[in-house]
Amino acid sequence: MGKPGENRPVSLFLDAGRGKREYVPQVQALSVHMNFESRAREDEPSVVNPGRRRTDGPESVRVLRPRRAAPADAVRPTRAEVNLAALRHNLRVIARHAGTAKVWPVLKADGYGHGAPAVARTLERAGAEGFCVALLEEAMELRDAGVRAPILVMGGYYGGAYEEIVARGVVPVVYDRSHLEGLARASRLVGRPVEAHLKIDTGMSRLGVRMADLERFAAEVQRYPEVRIVGLMTHLACAEVERDHAEAGFTDRQTAAFEEATRRLERAGVSVKVRHAANSAAVLRGQALFDMVRPGIAIFGVSPLASGTPELRPVMRVRSEIVDLRTLEPGESVGYGALFRATRPTRIATLPMGYADGLSRELSNRGHVLVRGKRVPIVGAVSMDMSMIDVTDVPGVSLRDEVTILGTQEGPLGKDTLSAEEIATRGSTIPWEILTSISRRVPRFYREP
Ligand SMILES: Cc1ncc(COP(=O)(O)O)c(C=O)c1O
Repeated sequence: MGKPGENRPVSLFLDAGRGKREYVPQVQALSVHMNFESRAREDEPSVVNPGRRRTDGPESVRVLRPRRAAPADAVRPTRAEVNLAALRHNLRVIARHAGTAKVWPVLKADGYGHGAPAVARTLERAGAEGFCVALLEEAMELRDAGVRAPILVMGGYYGGAYEEIVARGVVPVVYDRSHLEGLARASRLVGRPVEAHLKIDTGMSRLGVRMADLERFAAEVQRYPEVRIVGLMTHLACAEVERDHAEAGFTDRQTAAFEEATRRLERAGVSVKVRHAANSAAVLRGQALFDMVRPGIAIFGVSPLASGTPELRPVMRVRSEIVDLRTLEPGESVGYGALFRATRPTRIATLPMGYADGLSRELSNRGHVLVRGKRVPIVGAVSMDMSMIDVTDVPGVSLRDEVTILGTQEGPLGKDTLSAEEIATRGSTIPWEILTSISRRVPRFYREP
């Protein structure tokens, strides 16, 4: 625990289950957080109709839940604070940009590292009408957490677990005949039709029916009446680029192709209720809004646009504490490979956060953190569990001082912010990777300021 009065939450609301919030004084937060984490049946596989053997195919496929941090990890001072009010604020900002389009936040990769169940429950209560994830496993995790809104599984690699999709009311994305076959078979077994969205490749060249194959796929769809195609989707490849960029017209071309695909599919007998294409960048630009939008990064308060989006509020803050302090003589080195060498008497502080927690090794000798409200450099190589920082120029620095790795810190020496965008630039990556890299051994604490 840090020093009293420093940048730690004063109180916490933990999202303790469907519709239930618990007020938790700071001193109790650790144990309640542990309960929250351990309540999830993360190690148990999910089996549809356990004990029953399928007659027309392989045995029911077991969908494993993603693993969460072990409760014992929560004693460490390195943790991520998730601001639920900022999450709701960002949803409102995005809804305003989306106009009449419905907002289905993208919560893949554990809600961009924020903890998908708690994020989904908060956004569902705040009015989000559906969610998108990449994996079936992620959809199951949300269902197990009590989320009732529709969940679109965008990836399409179901590993044969079609029965689970139908039974748990998840909305699958289809783009291959095997999806239609599997869903139709599961639909017959479960005894109800299944609604799906069809993915079209308009330029991403990743997943989806190719433009040249639309009529052929529409003919396949007609063969499986158990599968109702209610939505059309595509994914934009260049929504972030600025006006003067070589690919500035890419989104317009993709949008035009999507319109063309809609017309051709309609002529071939596939008419839908909903179409969607927009990620965060497109929503914020008001492009390709259609009937529904799929914002990810903007929900978490990070702008995908180089020009920034000041209305958004960052949701995650990552903090740790100084666990060791030493003074080096000139000439002494720091860390693996002796990548940093002191040129003056140097105060080195150690923080218990390394690349296995999501502090990229790219930030060795390049990144910064905040101590007592002041920006200080990361020195030497970031190692697996720990990193060292140079606090020579931080008067009054002491053991247990809070260190802010991501977010804002205010202290006796000032106030500063390390944004995901800035860290990404320093680490030669993108903010999406910064957020999703904060690993599961960093406990998440949910704040309701
Ligand atoms: C298919 C799809 N839609 C929407 C998104 C959300 O993108 P963003 O985080 O840029 O809003 C993603 C994320 O990469 C995606 O893969």
